[in-house]
Amino acid sequence: MQILVTGGAGYIGSHTCICLLEQGHDVIVIDNLSNSHQQALSRVEKITGKKLTFYQEDILHQTVLERIFNTHTIDAVIHFAGLKAVGESTQIPLQYYHNNITGSLVLLEVMQQYQVKNLVFSSSATVYGDPKQLPITEDFPTSANNPYGRSKLLIEEVCRDIYHADPLWNIALLRYFNPIGAHHSGQIGEDPQGIPNNLLPYIAQVAVGKRESLSIFGNDYATCDGTGVRDYIHVMDLAEGHSKALDKLQTQPGLVVYNLGTGKGYSVLEVLHAFEQVAKKAIPYHIVARRAGDIAACYADPHLAKKELGWIAKRDLHDMVSDTWHWQIHNPQGYI
Ligand code: NAD
Ligand code: UD1
Repeated sequence: MQILVTGGAGYIGSHTCICLLEQGHDVIVIDNLSNSHQQALSRVEKITGKKLTFYQEDILHQTVLERIFNTHTIDAVIHFAGLKAVGESTQIPLQYYHNNITGSLVLLEVMQQYQVKNLVFSSSATVYGDPKQLPITEDFPTSANNPYGRSKLLIEEVCRDIYHADPLWNIALLRYFNPIGAHHSGQIGEDPQGIPNNLLPYIAQVAVGKRESLSIFGNDYATCDGTGVRDYIHVMDLAEGHSKALDKLQTQPGLVVYNLGTGKGYSVLEVLHAFEQVAKKAIPYHIVARRAGDIAACYADPHLAKKELGWIAKRDLHDMVSDTWHWQIHNPQGYI
């Protein structure tokens, strides 16, 4: 199949491109490189020994998208392109709404125009807000308390409306839990700009000596050791989930929603200690106040994806932290 991957140079997109190329798909990437490097795609080609087509363009530009849809006979779109930092989204909400929502609307319009009705969309576990119980199943109520989360929820709703208006659409809304790790080659991985917001990149940068100490946001939660618990999932497991979702779209399922998580939660301290074992060094940390908007614990019930996609996360916490470390140690400055 010919697959258009928006945001394909980014963290999850680049790992997914590997899976797609290895499965023999033709991959066309559109990315404006606002949060990524073209080098990630060169490395994807090196790892797979296959070529992809890259457009350094913005999904907000309808005429550009039309040109791409004219040039290629696209069978399906995997839509990763978007801004993703929760804190930043509260400071520049308009940019988040414009990029994430308008960008998606433009893409969906062009898909409709060219009768391309197969879509995999990157949603997030953030749409579950602060869940009343755990593990989280796909039918839990959804909510959002920041512009980033609201942009994801709104695009999910737009997709539902499109499907209800025209049941020939096939749409998989994938709700990711906490993606971490890197391709085992150490060639591609997560390369955040500036100070990392998320736990794993921060730990990795402390371990490599780029930052002094990890601030742990609260140790008074009702969890095993008081620190926050999350469902960390290896980015290659996540990437494989996208291939499985594409296969599912071929069976014309209509609109489907899946959690992509492992079903197991780990605390901040558990992740830190796992990283220390792999890096064979102590990682300095200190406890600070809770981060606004954080919840105590969050983990998926991943059974629906297992049942309907035949997908499960295969890699464990050790794989996730050692692949993160492998990437970090070989690329201490990220892609440069
Ligand atoms: P990322 O920032 O690494 O990748 C997103 C890519 O989209 C970047 O390469 C960026 O340059 C590109 N992009 C942004 N706006 C664009 C535009 N208007 N036109 C073209 N390209 C554009 O992020 P990621 O971690 O790979 O996340 C991919 C998707 O998954 C995002 O939609 C994100 O919201 C979602 N998601 C991520 C996580 C996570 O923790 N990483 C969790 C849940 C959901
Ligand atoms: C974050 C996003 C969420 C997104 C998810 C997916 C926020 C508030 N939420 O979730 O919308 O769907 O990523 O990746 O950004 N922690 C520390 N110190 C740090 C960084 C994190 O103690 O320097 C703790 C957090 O308090 C949390 C855990 O580590 O308990 C994971 O944090 P993080 O990696 O930022 O992910 P989430 O907050 O779960």
